[in-house]
Amino acid sequence: ERYEVTGIRNGWKGFFDSDYETLDNIRTSGIIDRGGTILGTSRFSPLAVEKGPQLVLEKVKKLASTGLIVLGGEGMLSVAYEMFRKGLPVVGIPKTIDNDVRGTDYCIGFQTVVEIATEALDRLRSTAESHHRVMLLEVMGRYAGWIATYAGMANGADAVLIPEIPLSLDWLCRMVTNREKKGINFSVVVVAEGTVLDGKTIGSEASAQFNKRQLLGGIGKVLGDIIEQRTGLETKVSSLGYIQRGGTPVAYDRSLATSFGVRALRLISQKRYGEMAAIVGNRITSSPLSEVAKGIKTVPKETYQTAQRFFG
Ligand code: F6P
Repeated sequence: ERYEVTGIRNGWKGFFDSDYETLDNIRTSGIIDRGGTILGTSRFSPLAVEKGPQLVLEKVKKLASTGLIVLGGEGMLSVAYEMFRKGLPVVGIPKTIDNDVRGTDYCIGFQTVVEIATEALDRLRSTAESHHRVMLLEVMGRYAGWIATYAGMANGADAVLIPEIPLSLDWLCRMVTNREKKGINFSVVVVAEGTVLDGKTIGSEASAQFNKRQLLGGIGKVLGDIIEQRTGLETKVSSLGYIQRGGTPVAYDRSLATSFGVRALRLISQKRYGEMAAIVGNRITSSPLSEVAKGIKTVPKETYQTAQRFFG
């Protein structure tokens, strides 16, 4: 079966701006090795606008659409589920570096960010060892610490700090000090931006100035100062910021995206709306969007404990 595909630009906002473009072989050729999205995206939600859902339903009907495919993370796909409940013929594709979407083991983008963060940790380890320092790397992950856990495990980090696990400052400072006492005069620590310190998350000063709830560059700086003050060990902080979310996707993510696209089209052809492409136990399958709407997928304790065996 062949389908004509119309791209909606800038996420749901494209419906409100009637901002569309035809996605044919010409337009989509040679983009498989590009990061980001040629359509643009936004965090705009039709649920936040009066009569927003009705407008989307009408526009999709006007486009004589067989169905809508929505790519995105937990937020985007939860909106897709709500719109499905209002009658929108929609299927989903999980795509976020956070990997915090229920119903799928992996999301498009996750393996790429793990490669980027792991390489950063490897580089930090070599300079930490040379200069006898504690190196702290802050990565993305506002509500779940998948990036920090997998990159930390791949690097053999001395500590991985994530939102799901309460942070013990005493343990952290004792760990870097004990390494020093054992003659290992450097440490590498990775911290997710949403890690909770004394019951609260920490935004960067910059975001506080602009009253923006941005966490990037927050917890790393604060934690680095605390470690240095409490242990007397020279501590340097790096925040990967937006570098970790751009650039060329790794091969795994390209084939995952290809497989998810084919599966999503099959769901459309079978009119199995309200579902999303997924990978479970290394098999391409589908999961209900209602699963996504239950909340974010956090790092299982057992996965974290595997990394934890190599701390310190
Ligand atoms: O949801 C993906 C993500 O990259 C998070 O990891 C990060 O906290 C957030 O987006 C940053 O959002 P923005 O690009 O809007 O600042």
